[in-house]
Amino acid sequence: MIEWGVDWLGEAYPWVKALHVAFVIFWMAGLFMIPRFLVYWHPVAPGVPEALLWDERCRRLRRIILSPAMIVSWLAGLSLGFHLGWPLWLVAKFLFVVGLTWFHHWTVGMVKRFAAGDRPVSEKGLRLANEIPSLVTLAVVVLVIVKPF
Ligand code: HEM
Repeated sequence: MIEWGVDWLGEAYPWVKALHVAFVIFWMAGLFMIPRFLVYWHPVAPGVPEALLWDERCRRLRRIILSPAMIVSWLAGLSLGFHLGWPLWLVAKFLFVVGLTWFHHWTVGMVKRFAAGDRPVSEKGLRLANEIPSLVTLAVVVLVIVKPF
């Protein structure tokens, strides 16, 4: 019978952490790529063959990498969090990751808008948005490695 709470992972803890870090790397790779795809897609006229190609590329990236990696990162992360009992640094990290997950869904929403022919954000805006995952990753990695509080 699994007893949720501190130390519930027992010997499996380092294996779950390894799985977590690996899928976080896959997730971040996807989050760095998709805004870049949107920047290249932005100047392409809606409906032309190249626009359909960018739509297909973004959907495959989402289906094969982004969404599965986000789900495994979360499940492994939450498992680790309950094992550690949610210290303050982890609560702060969790809030940053909720922000990153919002960004994930924002980019997925943008793909759907672009496929419908809209360009709701300027190319400059997309280039700025492209910096968000890097800045959040910096904060998250400092929190989880340094554990400042
Ligand atoms: C989805 C929510 C997440 C939760 C609940 C979570 C929770 C955790 C926990 C509890 C640990 C173990 C810390 C330790 O053993 O000292 C951990 C390790 C780690 N997490 Fe996350 N995490 C999440 C998402 C992320 C994201 C998005 C990133 C990167 C952008 C990340 C990067 C890392 C790294 C690099 C480690 C290894 C730290 C070490 O080896 O000491 N995590 N995570």
